[in-house]
Amino acid sequence: MMSKNKDTVDWNDHVGWLDRRLALADPNLFIFELDEKPVATFRIDGEDVSYTVAPEQRNRGIAKLMLNEVRSRFGRLRAQVYADNVPSIKVAQTAGFEVVIIDV
Ligand SMILES: CC(C)(COP(=O)(O)OP(=O)(O)OC[C@H]1O[C@@H](n2cnc3c(N)ncnc32)[C@H](O)[C@@H]1OP(=O)(O)O)[C@@H](O)C(=O)NCCC(=O)NCCS
Repeated sequence: MMSKNKDTVDWNDHVGWLDRRLALADPNLFIFELDEKPVATFRIDGEDVSYTVAPEQRNRGIAKLMLNEVRSRFGRLRAQVYADNVPSIKVAQTAGFEVVIIDV
C-alpha cells in the first residue's frame, strides 16, 4: 500500500526483478538484522532509499535504528513518502533524510 506501484505484484515478475537486481555489481538491497534475526529491509536506488520493517516488528524503534545506520553509512538520501504515512515521515526526518511528500 505504501509503494509507488499499487498493482498486485505477480510472483514470477517479482522473482525476475530480484534476479536481475541481484545480478548487478551493486544490487544495493539490504537486510537489517537485530540479534542475528532479519527484521527489516532497505534498498537504495540512486539518491532514493526505500525501506520496510516486518509487520510483526513495527513500532519498536527498528526503523529509527536502521535509518540512523543507513544515514551514517550512505549519507543523506531521499525518502519519497505518501502524505498519510506518518510513521515513515517521522523516522525519515529523524534520521536526517530529505523527505519528499507524495500526494496520496
Ligand atoms: C514506516 C515503517 C518503516 C516504520 O517502521 P517502525 O520500525 O515501525 O518505526 P519506528 O518504531 O522506528 O518509529 C515509528 C514512529 O512513528 C510513530 N507512529 C507509529 N504509528 C503512528 C501513527 N499512526 N501516527 C503517528 N505516529 C505513529 C511511532 O510512535 C514512532 O515515533 P516516535 O519514535 O516519535 O515514537 C513501517 O511502518 C513499515 O515498514 N511500513 C510499511 C512500508 C513503508 O511504509 N515503508 C516506507 C515507504 S516510504
